[in-house]
Amino acid sequence: MKPNLITKITLCGLLLNGFYGQAQKTTLEVNTTNTVTKIQPTMYGVFFEDINFAADGGLYAEMIKNRSFEFDTPLMGWEQPNSDTHSFNNESGIATTIKALENKTNPSFCRVLVKNDKGFEMINVGFRGMGIKKDAKYNLSLKAANHNGAIKKIIIQFIDKDKKVLGETSIVPTSNDWKGYSAQLTATQTEAKAQLKITFEGAGTIDLDMISVFPEDTWMHRKNGMRKDIVQLLYDMKPGFLRFPGGCIVEGRTLAQRYQWKKTVGDVEKRETLINRWNTEFEHKPAPDYFQTFGLGFFEYFQLAEDLGAQPLPILSCGMACQFNTGELVPMEELDPYVQDALDLIQFANGSVETPWGKVRSDMGHPKPFNLKFIGVGNEQWGPDYIARYKVFEKAIKDQYPNMTIVSGAGPFPEGDYFDYGMEELKKLNAEIVDEHYYKNPQWFRENATRYDNYDRKGPKIFAGEYAAQSVAIASPDNKNNWECAFSEAAFMTGLERNAEVVNLTSYAPLMAHEEAWQWTPDLLWFNNLEAYGSANYYVQKLFATNRGTDLINITKDEKAVTGQNHLFASAVKDVVSKDVIVKLVNTSSSAQEVNIDLKGNKLSSKGTLTTLTSANLEDENSFANPKKISPIESEIKVKNNKAITSLPPYSVTVLKIKMK
Ligand code: AHR
Repeated sequence: MKPNLITKITLCGLLLNGFYGQAQKTTLEVNTTNTVTKIQPTMYGVFFEDINFAADGGLYAEMIKNRSFEFDTPLMGWEQPNSDTHSFNNESGIATTIKALENKTNPSFCRVLVKNDKGFEMINVGFRGMGIKKDAKYNLSLKAANHNGAIKKIIIQFIDKDKKVLGETSIVPTSNDWKGYSAQLTATQTEAKAQLKITFEGAGTIDLDMISVFPEDTWMHRKNGMRKDIVQLLYDMKPGFLRFPGGCIVEGRTLAQRYQWKKTVGDVEKRETLINRWNTEFEHKPAPDYFQTFGLGFFEYFQLAEDLGAQPLPILSCGMACQFNTGELVPMEELDPYVQDALDLIQFANGSVETPWGKVRSDMGHPKPFNLKFIGVGNEQWGPDYIARYKVFEKAIKDQYPNMTIVSGAGPFPEGDYFDYGMEELKKLNAEIVDEHYYKNPQWFRENATRYDNYDRKGPKIFAGEYAAQSVAIASPDNKNNWECAFSEAAFMTGLERNAEVVNLTSYAPLMAHEEAWQWTPDLLWFNNLEAYGSANYYVQKLFATNRGTDLINITKDEKAVTGQNHLFASAVKDVVSKDVIVKLVNTSSSAQEVNIDLKGNKLSSKGTLTTLTSANLEDENSFANPKKISPIESEIKVKNNKAITSLPPYSVTVLKIKMK
């Protein structure tokens, strides 16, 4: 017989809770009264970068690839199975692209010459296909200029690989001049690899641009919005901040390819398409069809942060292209436009509707300020060139916006010359928050739970802005989101939490990846065209973030912090609003460990909850087939005279929560 969920949970509870009579191996003492420091609301956040098709083809729910024909190969993503280019016998028509240079940001459009009634077709292949769900509605829009009214009808269909029609609509193009049209398709079947077929009735020339299809059911039902399932996973984490737009994408492989936020706001049609820097980065994972339409631009990121209840944390180019690539530098005397971008961004986010950039925000539908408090200068730059540029930004921002908190960076590595130099210089400059990155093996994470124990409490605050345990090697395509990586990060995170006096923000990176179109692994979330799931690492992040608490309290073993003695790691907080004491315990050993938790101070309830994440094998992972293989299990625990005894399963992360009376 298959045990039902309740039986499973009860059984688990019994196994996890242990019995009062059993031998106690480790005693941990928690002082629930004394607050060591406040936990910042930003302690656990998310890092978004358009890598792995995270924006176009991912979070941004557009289903048409190269909708406005602006890719470097202008018809990339579009097929013409029965055009002249394929068969001289079937002269049904041909589609080409034309560049209208007066239209600076969206110059290309598609000119279709339909020669006869043999049914000329154009097919868009989507982002490795299009995910459609039975009975769901999809909104189509396009712009067309129908020369002399030659084309009588445009038929638009979802099709599968065998050309079976899975939904259909049509448009009658009524105008010689450019005009927008819209229609809706309802999917008759669920299909992960659908395509969009466009067929023309009539003969003659028609121009097409901005051919777009979005699911109607997007996050918050926003028109042309974001994928609901992916945002839901982020929302469930209750992130304290949203860092965007990266990552190296901020810097670009060249300065021309850097992220320029001003080109990502305003009318979507006018946003200039740019090659994605990850298009060519890795020979092992080339993605020639990876471009940025910026349909997901800075306004949308700010709005997403607001939806998530997270502080927006934009990171801007400081005039240095990625130093792993060209390392192009803007000369110091030409830095002004870059600095102005930062100042204007603050006005865009916070300025009144009377200011030029505040008006842009307001015209986009958000008259209220976004309440920006943090701004990042550069991603992971290093060396004297960075420090020189940082100083200029810092002065300009603080002169105009003294309350804005500036995030600076200590380079790509957590130690070594770049790090030491950057940190030293930033300390001298009294930098407020320094971003550290570490992509290391799981053992490093376990061994570095004490990393911040000796950081100067009066020095810069730390943003652990990008980290993830790498099961093979940094950026190896063989890295896995396996359980060893996830619980090792949890062990390390107890160290971040114990040092909340110094560590104010933390985020795993990268955030997400398309199952077929990724460049970098591991990633917190995985998605395909129909589904998304959280990795084991996601559940670790979520467990910490949703149990953030408000005040750090001490947990010790023999009066020492619990930092890996006997493979045990721990941190503790209390939440003065919900009146909970929350203890996080990580057992990285292959054996179960009994712990006796002695909570001194506030009188506590006689029962609490245990939330446990565990899996038998170090290599275990979540997957599309088994998305919750490693996910939290809740059980009840008895608390007697402020003492709780539990057995921590091998390789486990456990959160104990007890109400204060
Ligand atoms: O997270 C992937 C990349 O790793 C980021 O773009 C960069 O900042 C870091 O090197």
